[in-house]
Parts: sequence; structure tokens; C-alpha cells
Amino acid sequence: MAAGIDDIAIYIPRLYLDASDFASARGLDPVKLEKGLGVSQMAMVDADQDPACLAANACLKIMQRNNLSPSDIGRLYVSTESSFDESKAMNSYVVGMLEQVYGPGTFEHCGGVETKFACVSGSYALYDNTNWIRAGESEDQYAMVVVSDIAKYDLESGGEMTQGAGAVVMLLSDEPRLLSFDPRVTSTSIKDEYDFYRPFGKETPIVHGEYSNMLYMMQVKKALETYKKKVRTAGLIDVGPEGTILDHMDYINMHLPYSKMGKKALAYLVRHEWRHLPRWREVLRDIGMEEPVPKDPRGTIESVLADRDFMQKDKEFTRRFTDTAQYQEVYESKLASSLVASRMIGNLYTASLYLGFRSCLEFEHKKGVDLEGRRIGFGSYGSGSSAMVFSGVVQRGYEEIVKKMDLESEIGSRRRLTWDEYVQLHENQLRPEESLADGRGEFVLVGINTDKESSGERHYRYNG
Ligand code: COA
Repeated sequence: MAAGIDDIAIYIPRLYLDASDFASARGLDPVKLEKGLGVSQMAMVDADQDPACLAANACLKIMQRNNLSPSDIGRLYVSTESSFDESKAMNSYVVGMLEQVYGPGTFEHCGGVETKFACVSGSYALYDNTNWIRAGESEDQYAMVVVSDIAKYDLESGGEMTQGAGAVVMLLSDEPRLLSFDPRVTSTSIKDEYDFYRPFGKETPIVHGEYSNMLYMMQVKKALETYKKKVRTAGLIDVGPEGTILDHMDYINMHLPYSKMGKKALAYLVRHEWRHLPRWREVLRDIGMEEPVPKDPRGTIESVLADRDFMQKDKEFTRRFTDTAQYQEVYESKLASSLVASRMIGNLYTASLYLGFRSCLEFEHKKGVDLEGRRIGFGSYGSGSSAMVFSGVVQRGYEEIVKKMDLESEIGSRRRLTWDEYVQLHENQLRPEESLADGRGEFVLVGINTDKESSGERHYRYNG
């Protein structure tokens, strides 16, 4: 049975920090953000927004656009790593907000949970709900999976230049118009790690950025190895002796903590896949240097990162490799369109991969490409750590949705924050009623109780 993504919508908060303002306030070269990281703007939440609001706003948008009523939705999952409660699940807050519009009790029948595994949990939620549909449990209802996050790092920390906020919601069905997931090939890898984590009570994460980036690439590579075996077993694709699985993915969407990371991660996978193929000889000729190997090739990530000579040579090799015509062709045709939105919005943690997917559809369609039947591969990663590799095929009905996509208008008009406003918002110095942007037509946070009996209880309003 087919099962996959029928429609996708985004909600991006109406405030942003411009990368050039960030660079000048922090004494950085703006080119580092623009070119080194691929960050132009970072979306920021207002004083009356939290990740549940972002999720609810995205859900309302997709329901209204498809004229759905709550009885059409059988499951509502929220995946996030910006949770603010250790027990009450974020989907319950979202249901509460949606019922302000659709009426009390209208979602009573709807199951769901909040899922957590850093940036990868949305992919697990999609997989589980796809299987709920494949198992014939959905009774013609949709599953609604929303990935919502606020990527917030400490002031003056290394991660501060890779912030962002927003939500992406996907409707799943057994007759998906956008993408049908390939069955029996979804692959995972998992390892107990401390590359990025946020202990109880802490609003911002502890991040080992360089370590995390390397782990991301290694974990996705491991999941890709399993994916290749499953593809063979399932008889899905015949790669052939001189081919690689990546040749059979028309598009590759990667997890994007910042847009440039997609380019780095794809280069890592392509190198891994091409290394044993005849075409590699020609690539090495163009690069003009041997591929470096660490002093201790079977060592830990720490030992590889500490091998500065190797790291320097590897950086140079990667730079030359990404400049080759062979990699450029892969990059431009399979990845570049998925990076456009990330550059304008920033890091969305769980949602970043799916913002990339939406970006890929819109900007490939705008190039005039017929997307029907094209296979999209996904490289999902969550710190802590787990990766998931899976794929799907664009369906016949895609054009009805994709032709209406317009990122700029979907983001809406945004207000550029001054540096003082950014710091005030970051340090939670503004109350909800002091919000900076107009939240008309949106769910907003009204307040959080502080009294002993109901401490932490949140109240929301629909500004209809
Ligand atoms: N002009 C052009 N490029 C420049 C530059 C300049 N003036 N200065 C630096 N760069 C390039 C670097 O060469 C590097 O490119 P490369 O990645 O191709 O090697 C890139 O910009 C980043 O510079 P770097 O010095 O490595 O950055 P950093 O040490 O300040 O940290 C991160 C960057 C991404 C590691 C850091 O911001 C971070 O930890 N972010 C959080 C990421 C995260 O949370 N990940 C996990 C959860 S999603």
C-alpha cells in the first residue's frame, strides 16, 4: 500500500536577526556567516511564542488549506527538542489550541504523542505514522506530523550564529499527492553520545559543534550502508557494478543545522560512495592530491579531530573535492534547491530536514523540472545520537501543491530585529503582552502560571 506525504506547510515566526547585524555585533567577518555557514537570516520567536504555538499555527494552516475538519485527522504527533514540560506532551497543547478554532472536544478521538531524539525524532514519527497507514489502521484518516523547534544557543557561544525557529507540518495518507515512501528500506543507526544535549532545566544546549558535525556524517554513512543492503534485499534498485546508490536518488535532502552543512555532509557521503568506483581516479586527478587518512584510521572521533595535520589536509581535500565539476554537478542537481529556505530561516532542528524537502520541491519546480517519479533520498540526524536514511518517490498529484508554493509569501512579511531587541528576547526579558510583531490570525502565548498549585500551566489565545 502507498503511504507518504500528501501536503506540507510551514510556519515561520515574524521576527528575524540578520546575519550581517549578528556579524557586526559579534565582531565577525560577515562572509563567515554568508559563505562559511550559509546563514543570511535567522528566524526568531516573539515574546508571545513557544514551540507549541509554532506547531499549532502550522497545523491550522494545513487544515484550512485542505478544508479538513478534526474528524479527518486520526493522529497528531509533535516532534521537538524544545520541549518545556517533562510530562505533558506538546501535541496536547496543540490540540487545545486547535480546539479554540474547531470547538471543544473536536480532537477527542485523535491519538498521538510528543517524540524526542534531537533533530531526528520527526523522521521516526513520520516512519511510525506511515506504518500506521500501511497497517490499514488509519480508516481513511490522515496522520498529521508536525516538527517544531526553537534553535536557541547561549549568547556569545559558538552555536549562536546557527539559530532559528519554526515548524513544518506534514499530512500523511494512503493516497499521497506529494511523496510515497519506499517500503522496507528505511534504515537507522544509533550510538550513545554527548555531541549535543540539553539537561533538565536548561534552556540552551551544551554543544560540541565540530564533534557533532563529524558524528552526524559518520552516523548517516552507517545508516546509508544499511539502506544499501535493504535496497538490494527489497529489489528496489539495481545499482550495478560501477554505480552508487546516490546515482539513483534524483534529490538528496540532508539534515541542515545550517545550510552549508548540507554541502559538507553530502560531499562526505559522495566521497565514501565514489572512493571504490572507476570514476574516483579522474576525480583524484582533478583534485591534485591524495585523499588524506588519519594517523589512526580506526581511532575515535576525538583522536581524529586531535590529528590536526590530518584535519587540515582533509579540509583542503574537501574544499578541492567540492570544487570539482563532478561534485558540483551532484551538488547543483541533487542538493542546492533544498538549501534555499535554510539560508533565509536558519536552524530548525527537527524541522530543518523537512524545510529542506519543501524548499527542494518548490525550487526544482520553479526550474521547470517535471518531478513526477523522481526519487528523493533523506539523510536525517539527531544528536545523542541516531541517523535515519530513507527515500520516497514524488507522486502524480504533486504539481497541484507545488505550483502554489511560494516561500517568500508563506514566510510572510518579517520584522528585522535590532540588536537590543534580539538580546531582550533571547534573555526572556519581555512578557507575552510586550511582543514585537502582530500575531493576528495566529495562536499566541498569553501567559504561564507561576502560583504553586498550577505552576507552569500555559495559556494560549487564537487572535482570529
Ligand atoms: N570567510 C569565509 N569562510 C569562513 C570565514 C570567512 N571569514 N571564517 C570561517 N569560514 C568558514 C570556515 O572555513 C568553515 O568552513 P568549513 O566548514 O567548510 O571548514 C566555516 O566557515 C565555519 O567556520 P568555523 O571556524 O569552523 O566555525 P566555528 O568554529 O565558529 O563553528 C559551528 C561553526 C557550526 C561548529 C558552530 O557554529 C556550532 O557549533 N553550531 C551549532 C551546530 C549544532 O548545534 N549542531 C548540532 C545540532 S543540529
